[in-house]
Amino acid sequence: MTITEIEKDFERDIALCATLPELQELRVKYLGKSGQLTVLLKSIKDLPPEERPTFGAKVNELRNNMERRFVARTDALKQDELARRLQEERVDISLTSCPERGALHPVTQIENEICDLLIALGFEVLSGPEIETDYYNFQALNIPDDHPARDMQDTFYITDSILLRTQTSAMQARVMEKRKPPLKIVCPGKVFRSDSDASHSPVFHQIEGLVVDKNITLCDLKGTLEYIAAHLFGEQTKVRFRPSFFPFTEPSVEVDLTCCNCGGKGCSLCKGTGWIEVLGAGMVNPYVLENCGIDSSKYNGYAFGIGMDRVAMIKYGIPDIRLFFENDKRFLKQFAK
Ligand code: PHE
Repeated sequence: MTITEIEKDFERDIALCATLPELQELRVKYLGKSGQLTVLLKSIKDLPPEERPTFGAKVNELRNNMERRFVARTDALKQDELARRLQEERVDISLTSCPERGALHPVTQIENEICDLLIALGFEVLSGPEIETDYYNFQALNIPDDHPARDMQDTFYITDSILLRTQTSAMQARVMEKRKPPLKIVCPGKVFRSDSDASHSPVFHQIEGLVVDKNITLCDLKGTLEYIAAHLFGEQTKVRFRPSFFPFTEPSVEVDLTCCNCGGKGCSLCKGTGWIEVLGAGMVNPYVLENCGIDSSKYNGYAFGIGMDRVAMIKYGIPDIRLFFENDKRFLKQFAK
């Protein structure tokens, strides 16, 4: 082939070349080790010596020209590719259909608020299993088999010894068993009981507080609860202890707050009493400490369990606990901040 023929072929080929891989093939065809131009250049030795310089110069000129054309064509193809992608992957930022913004569930908001308050007092937040053993949910908490206190909680059993925890108190024993006092922990989470009406749901939320140290008193418990009540319901809120019974606390108390609706005068929310019951609490029963390997002659403590759904109901005036679990956006939207 002559220089002119190769040049003509090349012009035709490169014009038809539409992709980068095709271009690469073309480069091999003309400039590769056994490419047409390389072969031509090798034939220089067959020429009479006087023709060689002119011939060599011409071939080199063509080679340089080809190189330039390859660079230019590569750039052009890359530009085309970019333009194509920009067109295909274009995002129409003027589209107005934004997805709706989510918000925290009202019970989650209460949980966060209470946790933040207790963290500020030096409590550590822990979480435990929702599927629990009979041992941690009952026995370790001084509720043996057949104890009448089991009737206070209608339990979902999975097997004879495995159940859905009925109270976050199950975490008390888990923690006390593993750690040495001083302990200052708080455990929020779901609990389950076979119960359903306007004020009971088969799943609801508790937050357990537990302090074990030396010389803890009911006053420490009351101070902590007053601090939480003041932040949740306002400074004027009063806390009242009424004697009660839980197998894992001794003494045990039922804790009432002055009604946040009427301020204690009596209204329909507090059924005219001026007080609203919000939680159970007490001093950790020495039997429970001993069950967990803690010396009850050295250490004592307090525990409380707050129903967070109930707190949210009181705070926001929600009449039916089941509203929390229906996922009706019209209801939930009202708590978006
Ligand atoms: N676990 C009890 C309940 O669910 C509440 C409670 C917690 C009482 C801690 C005393 C101490 O009713």
